[in-house]
Amino acid sequence: GRVAVLAGGKSAERPVSLKSGAAVHQALRNLGLIAELVDPADKSVDTLKGFDAAFIALHGRGGEDGVIQGVLEHLGIPYTGSGVMASAIGMDKVRTKQLWKGAGLPTPAFYVAGREELELGFPLMIKPAHEGSSIGMAKADNAEQLAAALEEAGKFDSDVLVEAWVNGPEYTVALLGDEALPAIRLKTPHAFYDFEAKYQSDSTEYLCPAGLDEADEKAIRQLALTAFRVAGCRGWGRVDVMRDAEGQWQLLEVNTVPGMTDHSLVPMAAKAAGRDFDALVGEILLLAVE
Ligand code: DAL
Ligand code: MG
Repeated sequence: GRVAVLAGGKSAERPVSLKSGAAVHQALRNLGLIAELVDPADKSVDTLKGFDAAFIALHGRGGEDGVIQGVLEHLGIPYTGSGVMASAIGMDKVRTKQLWKGAGLPTPAFYVAGREELELGFPLMIKPAHEGSSIGMAKADNAEQLAAALEEAGKFDSDVLVEAWVNGPEYTVALLGDEALPAIRLKTPHAFYDFEAKYQSDSTEYLCPAGLDEADEKAIRQLALTAFRVAGCRGWGRVDVMRDAEGQWQLLEVNTVPGMTDHSLVPMAAKAAGRDFDALVGEILLLAVE
């Protein structure tokens, strides 16, 4: 069969998606499959007709948020990753956190700017509710910085999340089917794991194994898997987690189409679990069509 690799799109994460798509496309060809890159930004979705499956390598709005998933449902084409509703929820940091909170899972205290206000104290983390790759995010240490951060985040989104700052290391856990892969610890000299630390900096360190003892490694993987399921996700994804000063895990967000460049985190975790990039891509596709 023919596989469409959907990459590009119109979101602020387009450049990352083009890299993910190119890597996935190459991997599918290495596996001997007939694969074609399709960019929903410059082609009508009619181009999708005739494909037997779609590998979604779109990040951000329009691709990771249920929109393209709905189109594929409509066309009857099996696709990788989460369905319409979980994709929409995963793209919305506020609703994801509400679900987790409702299920009794730990996530930093938060409010939505302009709608309610909690006394959280500084520092605060400000995030556009529907972005990825840390786009539009900032840390605020005082009221002045908060005002500036809200204005900046507001350029990207009408919903801006204000979250209690977590003082502690950041981890991420990749999910593949029913399996949580080894945790990765992210170490950056930046105040947080921002866009530059993610894609441009040489000073960001990735530890996998993450240096957790056996019980903690087990706990973070189980928490990530539970968080993934509570959000209704399936197939594959990545849950970002921090550990606060009290040693408590704090769930940040779920990514339903995580980066798949050769420097990305899910491929790193898969490698630690014995799968090379091509095998990982094959497995994600298989989860979509079986
Ligand atoms: N949003 C980026 C692509 C990631 O989560 O990896
Ligand atoms: Mg994200």
